[in-house]
Amino acid sequence: MTNPIGELNPPNRLMMTPGPCSIDPRVYRALAAPIVGHLDPWFRGCMEETQVLMRRIFQTENRVTFPLSASGSGGIEASVLNSLEPGDEAIFCVNGLFSQRMHVIAQHTPATVHLVEAPYGKPIDPEPVRKVAKGRKIKMIGFAHGETSSGVVTAIEPLRQVADECGALLAVDAVASLAGVPLHIDRQRVDICFSGSQKAISAPPGMSPITVSPRAEEVFRTRKTKVQSWYFDLSTAMNFWGKDRLYHHTPPISLIYALREAMRIVLEEGLEARWERHRQNQLALIAGVEAMDLKLLVEKPADRLATVTAVLIPAGQDDAKFATSSSMNSTSKSPEALARSRARSGVSARWVTAARSRLSCSFSRRSKKF
Ligand SMILES: Cc1ncc(COP(=O)(O)O)c(C=O)c1O
Repeated sequence: MTNPIGELNPPNRLMMTPGPCSIDPRVYRALAAPIVGHLDPWFRGCMEETQVLMRRIFQTENRVTFPLSASGSGGIEASVLNSLEPGDEAIFCVNGLFSQRMHVIAQHTPATVHLVEAPYGKPIDPEPVRKVAKGRKIKMIGFAHGETSSGVVTAIEPLRQVADECGALLAVDAVASLAGVPLHIDRQRVDICFSGSQKAISAPPGMSPITVSPRAEEVFRTRKTKVQSWYFDLSTAMNFWGKDRLYHHTPPISLIYALREAMRIVLEEGLEARWERHRQNQLALIAGVEAMDLKLLVEKPADRLATVTAVLIPAGQDDAKFATSSSMNSTSKSPEALARSRARSGVSARWVTAARSRLSCSFSRRSKKF
């Protein structure tokens, strides 16, 4: 009963999941930096720099661009709740567990929610979305750019086209794609986009970078009813992240430091170089997987999400055992040793993440029921 609890000493894992993934020692150092108050003038400058870096990664000029104090699911919730009011209609495109989450969250709102589905392993086809939108006043179309549960990427442009045809906002889940796969918020005219700090940005989990176009901002501003969440009401959150810097809630200051440093690393590498590295590493992974006679879930190369590669587990294997096998999950090395061995082999953290992605397939099979 009185056993002392020892000092925290977690193992140093090589994280090969799509996220959280292994973190650069520079990001760990940022996490350990002294805390300052969230209204301290110095911290205001740090917030400003964080937003500048985030706009560069989203490739946007959007004023409303900041890290939500929440995981990626908070980004889904904020996008949906800020957009929908009673009487609205929206379409959610579901091709896996995470796009399904957006649909489920939308069902918590008073809006009428339409569902367009594609099978696991396939991107969203814009035609059925167009059919559902026809003759209806659709306020929002939502989908996952990268669907982690099946390793599929859905092209943004065709759904943007449908959203233009029906005058809808386009909301994109980029949790698995931002900083790993080409994404240009302004050029592709995405209205609302959110991500997760723990994936291709490679920061600790707990923050959801979000960006909102001026058009979506205007839709939020002219709502007739209150947003169903105080915490995720983006207009009031912007009192803190906007020019006034007024208290809204106490943000996770250390996570903001870490995210800022991780975004600096992303931009030092360069977005194009990072996208290309993920693409090359996925090709190398696939070559190895196919040489082992294993099959991929996503058949068409153009539909494969570079950050997550879903490999079918051979018949007769117990997928739950496979997914929890410690030899697949990790190795124990210091971050410095990992960085050194990666530099020697030319293999990046994201390649390893992709290698681990075979588990995401078993994950999707086991988690079909939300
Ligand atoms: C595409 C996608 N969307 C949303 C989420 C939810 O993010 P979180 O687990 O950080 O809440 C995830 C998590 O893996 C994801 O991959």
